[in-house]
Amino acid sequence: MLQVLSTFALGAQPQVMTPPSLIPGYALHNKIAEGGFAEIYDGEELVSKRKVAIKILHPRHHTNKTEFKRLIAEGGVGMRLRNHENVVRFLQVGRSGRAPYVVMEFIQGRTLREILREQKRLSNQHVVLLAQALASGIRYMHSEGVFHKDIKPENVMLSDEGTIKLIDLGFAESKSSVKWSLFGRSLEGSPAYMAPELLRTKKPSEATDLYALGCTLYEAATGITPFTGLSDNEILQKQLNMSSRPTPVTEANPDITPYTERLIMNALEKHNKDRYKSIDEFLLELRRNPLLSSTQAHVSLPAGWARKRGNLSSARNRLPGASGSSGK
Ligand SMILES: Nc1ncnc2c1ncn2[C@@H]1O[C@H](COP(=O)(O)OP(=O)(O)O)[C@@H](O)[C@H]1O
Ligand SMILES: [Mg+2]
Repeated sequence: MLQVLSTFALGAQPQVMTPPSLIPGYALHNKIAEGGFAEIYDGEELVSKRKVAIKILHPRHHTNKTEFKRLIAEGGVGMRLRNHENVVRFLQVGRSGRAPYVVMEFIQGRTLREILREQKRLSNQHVVLLAQALASGIRYMHSEGVFHKDIKPENVMLSDEGTIKLIDLGFAESKSSVKWSLFGRSLEGSPAYMAPELLRTKKPSEATDLYALGCTLYEAATGITPFTGLSDNEILQKQLNMSSRPTPVTEANPDITPYTERLIMNALEKHNKDRYKSIDEFLLELRRNPLLSSTQAHVSLPAGWARKRGNLSSARNRLPGASGSSGK
């Protein structure tokens, strides 16, 4: 039987909670989110005064060996991936009493999920910029030998400065690692973003991350995931059904160009051999997009975004939902 773990966030409202026991060198402030196995606090590095986010094992999991190892593993992967602006930067990992924790840069901004809740769908231009930023971050991870394994709007943040970042390395793992047997080869992820071959073989790959990216971009472009259903099971059946096809992107959002649509639909091919061979190839194709060509400085930006940000190169990676760019 499939074991599908979903992660969730509480959203933007901070909850004032008693922070967990002391983490040397840091002051913890408020709980900002809570997921399946960890709590996230904002805080401050005492020496530098810089703001940080701290993810710490939830007290109810203190004796759960699997979740304990998972957070340790997330810390290990995160500390190896500290060199790309589109991947959240880890600063430290440690243990407070029985609880492992990771300290990360604090991203002042919102998740793509929060933005889509408000705006429903994004313009072609913003989808293209999102694709470029996420694919760059994923390519970096792949080049370091790591699969993200949980790409979805909840795990994408738009900072107020305008940078798009992949967060949540909780399911990420090394290509060479045996970790997925560590977790009993249970299937981890969210049904709406899982490639058919991942569901069948449970084996993550570059192609399964590309598929999840395709689902995320499809959702950003249309407001809905490629396959919907009343239950996880119904969605999983549609993912597995090799003849079920998502509704064309342009039907839900006429602003999306055929070029962008082709790119998204390729990432969503049911057979991984029909998708781009790698995220690198996806990125190369994306960069052929007229929007990102050498004439990019002359592309006019959508109202409300251009006003604030100037030209496309200075607005690289920026989306309208990041609160600093909303003009409000
Ligand atoms: N570095 C960060 N800066 C600011 N907020 C963050 C950061 N990391 C996580 N968050 C917030 O916490 C939520 C949950 O974090 P995540 O790592 O996705 O945990 P989970 O594994 O529980 O899904 C995110 O959706 C986001 O709202
Ligand atoms: Mg998450």
